[in-house]
Amino acid sequence: MASNILDGKALGLELQDALQLQVKKLTAAGTIPALTVILVGDDPASQVYVRNKVQTCERTGIRSEMIRYPSDVSPAIVLAKIAELNADPTIDGILVQLPLPKQFDEKIVLEAISPIKDVDGFHAENVGALNQGSPRFIPCTPYGVMKLLEKGKVDLKGKEAVIVGRSNIVGKPMAALLLAKGATVTICHSHTADLGFHTRRADILVAAVGRPNMLTGDMVKPGAVVIDVGINRLENGRLCGDVDFASVQEKAGLITPVPGGVGPMTITMLLTNTVEAAVRRSLQ
Ligand code: GUN
Repeated sequence: MASNILDGKALGLELQDALQLQVKKLTAAGTIPALTVILVGDDPASQVYVRNKVQTCERTGIRSEMIRYPSDVSPAIVLAKIAELNADPTIDGILVQLPLPKQFDEKIVLEAISPIKDVDGFHAENVGALNQGSPRFIPCTPYGVMKLLEKGKVDLKGKEAVIVGRSNIVGKPMAALLLAKGATVTICHSHTADLGFHTRRADILVAAVGRPNMLTGDMVKPGAVVIDVGINRLENGRLCGDVDFASVQEKAGLITPVPGGVGPMTITMLLTNTVEAAVRRSLQ
């Protein structure tokens, strides 16, 4: 691969190898790490993500179960299942795939998951802990981005980091993590007046908006580290990121591809969080 590519597929596999060993030891000592993923409805992208999560778990020896509900399921049924999983001492992690159908209040569902099994890190208690600098579970996508930056030996102290996207899943926790490492952080979003003004100042640029190829080479400072969180499916069926790879790769110091960049790291960090939860259980 070209020398300025940050390869998430390779790093993901490297970290999964280490996790596999840890899972083996935990299992031999009587604690089998276990993740339950709840999928509501039939959104095609969510089905692919969940299948990948469950299959990758199995490859590393983590016990994994997917529970599916039809898109018109009553929230009470899903909340009852979450309560059952919270009380089940053999389950370490519970993940409810987002987005949920419109009859659900996502906040109520996320708050129903026990914070000690919240491997997504979306529960208010875990969001608070992250923002106070003492995280319990770090949300998987920003956690994976931090591992990629570490792998690329990117020094963050005193650097200008610009995040495009302010979601609870990526943008906001990403900001907390970069801030904790000493970067000066700007979060841009759909109302930002002059996006290019901000992105051209960035030493580290994270794109997480879900708009195909919206970040182009003219919006990037030469030598910048560019992280593409977007996974967009084009009409021709191909995947592309939020970053126009061809024009940005020429200017970037480091860049993540899509596919093969952040995506495999998100899954790997979900497994990492599940194993961490299992380690805590084994110490009880
Ligand atoms: N939907 C898109 N990304 C995520 C994620 O990281 N976790 C969950 N639960 N749902 C998602």
